[in-house]
Amino acid sequence: MRTINVELEQRQERSYPIYIERGILDEVGPGLGRLGLKGRCALVTNPLVRSICGERVIKSLEGAGFDVLTVEVKDGEQYKILAEASMIYDRLIEEKLERSTPIVALGGGVIGDITGFVAATYLRGVPYVQVPTTLLAQVDSSVGGKTGVNHPRGKNLIGAFYQPRAVFIDPDVLKTLDKSELRAGLAEVVKYGVIWDEGFFRFLEENTQGLSAVEDALVRAIERSCEIKAHVVKEDETEKGLRSILNFGHTFAHAIEAVTGYTRYKHGEAVSMGMVLAASFSARLGVCEETVADRIENLLKTLGLPVEAPELRYEAILGAMLVDKKVLSGRMRFVLAKKIGDVVLRDVQREEVEAFLRKAAR
Ligand SMILES: NC(=O)c1ccc[n+]([C@@H]2O[C@H](COP(=O)([O-])OP(=O)(O)OC[C@H]3O[C@@H](n4cnc5c(N)ncnc54)[C@H](O)[C@@H]3O)[C@@H](O)[C@H]2O)c1
Repeated sequence: MRTINVELEQRQERSYPIYIERGILDEVGPGLGRLGLKGRCALVTNPLVRSICGERVIKSLEGAGFDVLTVEVKDGEQYKILAEASMIYDRLIEEKLERSTPIVALGGGVIGDITGFVAATYLRGVPYVQVPTTLLAQVDSSVGGKTGVNHPRGKNLIGAFYQPRAVFIDPDVLKTLDKSELRAGLAEVVKYGVIWDEGFFRFLEENTQGLSAVEDALVRAIERSCEIKAHVVKEDETEKGLRSILNFGHTFAHAIEAVTGYTRYKHGEAVSMGMVLAASFSARLGVCEETVADRIENLLKTLGLPVEAPELRYEAILGAMLVDKKVLSGRMRFVLAKKIGDVVLRDVQREEVEAFLRKAAR
């Protein structure tokens, strides 16, 4: 089993392990026991994930002596809302769950985010663990303690930083995942190579086949992604500085998602297109060579991810970016690529963004 520790500085009691192992779903119960948790626990999942692997996790928890309350949230991003969080609170209150009772989040990023938010706020905070079942959740959302729900006016507007007690990652659970969901998760994996580790990026370039299914290369990619995210979160838990490098490509991606009503593209697909734009913007500003942008685009393309949204007009993207981003004294902040494995935060004049977009997206 691979263990990666998320060490939160000066707050040792909140540091936690990420366990990565094929088949670890059957070990969640004993794992919780080793964390000193016992008695009752709540399992939050959705009907689809429950039908795929819920009973295995329940069996493991019951086998370790837990009395399990299972709560199902409807499947889909549209249910990552306060009304569903409230439904979970109702169940926890009805069942008189106490402050020491852990909550297990079993599912993708939607389940992880809403469950983490409920755990952060129910009785002012109860322990929770993440058992992520999509690639995006395994390499990104389950690690780092960002929890929350959407608001009609925007995504993730309500939330809290609240770290889990542990993360249990079973790569085998991805075997049932839709291929398009797997590809979307790979966009975030590529991002870690771009922002942090050229060697890892090269590994991805050399193993594109092995990343399209649950093979050793994918398991290695999950491990390295978690290591990098753990490291960044350790340095800057609440995104005051370094953590914002995790947003490489995301300014453009959020704009693409907003313009297309959050329905046309999966988040990872938008991130893929956003990274291509961010990389070519970096090249245009002279921050990196054109070859850097080409390499990023080629890898994403080979992985089957979209690299451009030809139907989008630049005015719409710019408009969405201006809603999303603070413009201070006419400048906007971007994560730009210097080379593969190294990025920099830079304030850019709004006119430069506009000129770039006018050329890139007609
Ligand atoms: N907290 C963070 O740091 C962070 C980071 C990135 C994204 N997010 C959030 O994550 C969410 C997206 O997460 P997601 O991409 O995992 O989407 P998701 O949770 O909606 O899962 C995608 C689909 O896959 C299904 N599914 C889950 N596991 C499966 C499995 N093993 N086999 C088959 N189907 C399975 C789900 O039921 C769902 O239908 C967004 O709400 C986003 O805001 C949070």
